[in-house]
Amino acid sequence: MKLRALFVTLGLFALVAGGMIAAPALHAATPAGKSKPGAGEDLRAVYANVTDVAEGGRATAACVRCHGANGISTAKGVPHVAGQRPAYLYAKLRAYQAGTRGDHGMEGAIKFLSDDALVKIAAYYASLDPVQPPAKSTGKPAPAKPDPVAAGKAAAAACGGCHGETGISKIPGMPSLVGLDPKYFVAAMTAYKNGQRKHDMMKSFAAPLSDTAIANLALFYAAQKPAKAQTPAAGNPAAGKTAAAACAGCHGEQGVSANPDNPSIAGQDAEYFVTALRAYKDGSRKDDMMKSAVSALTDGAMKDMAAYYAGLQPQQPKADKPLSTAEWVQKCDRCHGINGNSTDPRTPALAGQRIEYLDKSLHAYQSGARKDSVMAAMSSGLSESDVASLAAHYSQQRPRAFVFMDVQCK
Ligand code: HEC
Ligand code: HEC
Ligand code: HEC
Ligand code: HEC
Repeated sequence: MKLRALFVTLGLFALVAGGMIAAPALHAATPAGKSKPGAGEDLRAVYANVTDVAEGGRATAACVRCHGANGISTAKGVPHVAGQRPAYLYAKLRAYQAGTRGDHGMEGAIKFLSDDALVKIAAYYASLDPVQPPAKSTGKPAPAKPDPVAAGKAAAAACGGCHGETGISKIPGMPSLVGLDPKYFVAAMTAYKNGQRKHDMMKSFAAPLSDTAIANLALFYAAQKPAKAQTPAAGNPAAGKTAAAACAGCHGEQGVSANPDNPSIAGQDAEYFVTALRAYKDGSRKDDMMKSAVSALTDGAMKDMAAYYAGLQPQQPKADKPLSTAEWVQKCDRCHGINGNSTDPRTPALAGQRIEYLDKSLHAYQSGARKDSVMAAMSSGLSESDVASLAAHYSQQRPRAFVFMDVQCK
């Protein structure tokens, strides 16, 4: 008899090298009934023979209207299943049947199929040739996103006249922007924009900026080498140091805050510092915590503190530069295979999949509508534009079939 067994060497190697996903599934306890398949059982579709595959094909009559005659979908939102990895397909069919992947069309279609039928259907779809995208669009490199720091630098040209070219103030009364955590920076700009923080001039600069432009500016200033403001400070730093003990809990011992909600104030321009404290005291800049912190301070005490903090060294904030699409792809490919051609029978291939389905799936992992702890973690850091570029990237890769091998059995 001629058996069609799966050539799993590569897949198993990836499983061992990758470690994590495979092990728990293999060692999971096996309660009876509709729960998780037991040791090795989830790989049954991998070892199906020709007869199984043929029987699986005959059981897909009800699938054709959505997934197409050869598992190649022509319907929006319906994934291609031709050439998809066998153990993954089987696991997903079980999930729909158990109602844990909430899709009513799918649940209805497989409600009455036996577990054996699901194994065979998975083997059948896995054995089909995957869709081939139009030749001109295959193998495209990931689309390049503009470098956010470079974009921030370009936008900061409009700010340098007041805040200094690299965010180090040279003009008394103008705040330095180095050393500010990007989260605080974005909050401050947003507050000017929506009028929560009242300052007509800054509002006029902030208002035309998009959220992305503000985020880029924040990253640009966070990436600059911090230095103290090059402006004079009138007060007595020694007296200011004693009084500053009350501020350390929020702004850090040395004026460098560990909490991005509380701005770092080390090296800040002294005149701006005093203006800010006065504004909190008279309520024109609204913040309850700061209001109570400064309510008892005299003007002299404010100047002393300003002089003390102006003399402290600002530090570069921690700022994660967003990854480029190419950098994301490297991370995704570690599990999903080179160009999204998974060699692990449990991990889905992404290459050539419908773009809107990839997009929808990533959003579903992000929102928790589709539950998977690995993909929840992987997708949580993706911005809207990352999701769009990754979906575009994988939909344009040339899909490769999962390698089957014919073996002779006596
Ligand atoms: C009414 C249309 C419809 C029918 C009929 C249908 N499907 Fe689906 N199928 C879908 C849609 C839509 C999705 C994506 C749902 C989601 O996002 O969870 C899907 C998802 C799947 C997936 C998951 C693919 C992946 O990459 O995660 C598999 C496997 C699948 N279907 C197999 C089948 C099989 C086998 C049948 C027949 C027994 C079938 N489907 C019948 C619409 C349908
Ligand atoms: C004409 C001078 C001027 C220009 C140009 C200017 N700013 Fe400002 N900026 C100020 C002044 C003055 C303040 C303090 C306002 C206040 O008291 O709230 C300020 C405050 C800020 C703050 C809040 C700092 C803090 O520590 O809370 C940020 C952030 C900021 N500016 C960013 C920018 C950016 C980004 C640009 C360019 C798009 C820009 N500014 C252009 C004068 C300017
Ligand atoms: C309970 C926490 C807390 C304490 C205590 C505190 N601050 Fe603040 N401080 C904040 C927060 C939060 C902000 C930002 C508020 C906003 O968005 O306007 C802030 C803002 C400031 C600013 C404006 C910085 C900028 O870049 O615009 C200065 C200056 C400042 N604090 C100085 C002090 C001084 C001096 C003390 C001690 C007398 C002090 N703070 C005590 C939480 C605190
Ligand atoms: C640590 C391994 C791992 C990494 C890294 C990883 N994935 Fe996944 N991915 C999986 C597994 C396992 C599944 C199947 C989850 C399930 O059953 O829902 C999956 C499912 C998916 C799906 C759904 C496919 C389908 O047919 O429904 C998409 C889309 C996806 N991943 C995209 C990505 C992208 C984009 C990245 C990089 C940002 C990424 N993945 C990184 C392991 C990984």
